[in-house]
Amino acid sequence: MPDTIIQALQETVQFIKKIQPHPPEIGIVLGSGLGNLSEGIEVEIEIPYKDIPHFPVSTVEGHHGGLLFGKYAGRRIVAMAGRFHYYEGYTAEQVAFPIRVMKFLGIHTLLLSNAAGGMNPAFRVGDLMILTDHISFFTPNPLVGRNFEALGPRFPDMSEPYSHELIRKAKEIGKRLGIALHEGVYAGVTGPTFETRAEYRFLHLAGGDAVGMSTVQEVIAARHMGLRVFALSVITDLGIREEDNVITHEEVLEAARQAEPKLTLLFQELIAAL
Ligand code: HPA
Repeated sequence: MPDTIIQALQETVQFIKKIQPHPPEIGIVLGSGLGNLSEGIEVEIEIPYKDIPHFPVSTVEGHHGGLLFGKYAGRRIVAMAGRFHYYEGYTAEQVAFPIRVMKFLGIHTLLLSNAAGGMNPAFRVGDLMILTDHISFFTPNPLVGRNFEALGPRFPDMSEPYSHELIRKAKEIGKRLGIALHEGVYAGVTGPTFETRAEYRFLHLAGGDAVGMSTVQEVIAARHMGLRVFALSVITDLGIREEDNVITHEEVLEAARQAEPKLTLLFQELIAAL
């Protein structure tokens, strides 16, 4: 094992560059049930996670996962087919590792999607929410531990985790295409339990509009390195409702699948406009 994360990153990047020498400009991370966008990618090469040095190995059954390199909407991109979640047993640093690799490969912009539970009473299942901010207190911070200036500062600013410029562009695209978009705060939690009724109420009182089990650790690592970030949630269930609060993974995946065409179109137009 290398002594430091920097060495690990250098080894990983060296390995990837030998296989795929063209630097990507944009990184894409797709959430649960939202992988169809990758069908629109002109894939030049897919490198399975299990072959990449120092990469965590995906634990999701029947999902092997890999980095896709190619073109999307005319731009050179790298996409994660399958992401790593803290609830699977990875450390926060492992969850963030692929984001660091993408930055070291050359990306300047990171786009993420996720499935999330709605808490804002105006939200309905299938709605899309642009993340304007997040609350990450409920998950371990991936920057805990020794800091490397080659990645970013010890105490990074987090006043604009999600690029105002990209949010503005996405809203313009939404208007033009007739895709309704909410804006709101994403509360990151570890999972794997869905929240209790009291927890949904608490997270909403704390300022969250939606809640989910991914994204915040990736965004922290990305902002630490100065990447420009945009993220979108698909509201797959409603945490705060009068009765029948049972939420299943199947319901979440189904809602994500239904909303996916809207999300794919938005991402495609956004990438083309970058
Ligand atoms: N809570 C947490 N994570 C989620 C939810 C939820 O309600 N829906 C999709 N991911």
